[in-house]
Amino acid sequence: MTTITLIRGDGIGPEISDAVVKIIDAAGLKIDWDVQTAGSDVIEAEGVPLPNRVLESVKRNKVALKAPVTTPIGKGFRSVNVQLRKELDLYVNLRPCKNLPNVKTKFDNVDLVVVRENTEDLYAGIERQVDDDTAESIKIITRKASERICKFAFDYAVRNNRKEVCVVTKANIMKLSDGLFLDCYRNIAKNYPQIKQREILVDNLCMQLVQNPSQFDVLVLPNLYGDIVSDLCAGLIGGLGVAQGANIGLDCAVFEPVHGSAPDIKGQNKANPTALLLSAIEMLKYIGEKQYADKIENALFKTLKNGVCTADLGGNAKTDEFTNAIIKNL
Ligand code: NAI
Repeated sequence: MTTITLIRGDGIGPEISDAVVKIIDAAGLKIDWDVQTAGSDVIEAEGVPLPNRVLESVKRNKVALKAPVTTPIGKGFRSVNVQLRKELDLYVNLRPCKNLPNVKTKFDNVDLVVVRENTEDLYAGIERQVDDDTAESIKIITRKASERICKFAFDYAVRNNRKEVCVVTKANIMKLSDGLFLDCYRNIAKNYPQIKQREILVDNLCMQLVQNPSQFDVLVLPNLYGDIVSDLCAGLIGGLGVAQGANIGLDCAVFEPVHGSAPDIKGQNKANPTALLLSAIEMLKYIGEKQYADKIENALFKTLKNGVCTADLGGNAKTDEFTNAIIKNL
């Protein structure tokens, strides 16, 4: 039996984790879930929000499924999510964005992939209070991290029959930092003559995405732009409830949805488990269980085609009703 780390998170995390575990189990795949807790709930007992045991578990099992963990805004502890990605050197944040059956959106031809650098940029968390009225945040961009993320994006494009890799920066203003990222993209692109190249500024990208998203294929971006643009892309395909993601490194991978812990709907049986389920489907493919991944994906698509969906998609199914409908369709 395969052992996989499960971080159930907080907010809506436990509800959607339970739904996904139930669906995988009902599909007939036996997984030994190594359940790990993190975030504010463990601080009191263990002193830190991301105890070593969580990192050790992911290192041991090589694969994790992770629900969202809340990060206090403006104060408090550093993001468990960012720390996990950094500690495990999960340098790729991969966020495929594709229309789902029967999920009505403004566009019906979105099929793009966001490849977000996951370890540096303004996310390095290097900030200082200069004086009472001034704060500074340092943006770190290195050749090593930029080249490896651009290489991943091109390799991904080749492996998945994609035609174009478009680099997104603000190199007209941040000439050194974003300029370096762009330079790395150009260097790496030389090795992939079969893949079309494109360069775009992040503000123009946002405008183009909301007008004509089908023109984009694979996007590669520094961390912060990648974060913002992935939520925008989630909006193109039906919102955060359906946007999947994965954090991938050389040694391990953590699969998690784009969305956060949604405290506004916590404990109300309203959360959409689709984003975590799609992340889990990618995880199953990653560990070589494609047959089960396809089985679960078909059941999910059938459920959506039948018009069963949660409130965020305009439906009236509760989390448990939606989950049971998927199980019925397996
Ligand atoms: P959020 O993604 O939690 O929620 C934004 C909006 O989308 C809310 O109205 C929420 O109800 C809705 N939503 C999100 N996921 C949904 C789902 N599965 N089904 C139905 N509706 C859903 O973003 P927010 O409010 O900015 O962040 C809340 C907390 O989550 C913060 O502490 C933030 O730091 C954390 N966060 C954690 C992430 C992670 O663990 N990887 C990623 C993003 C945010």
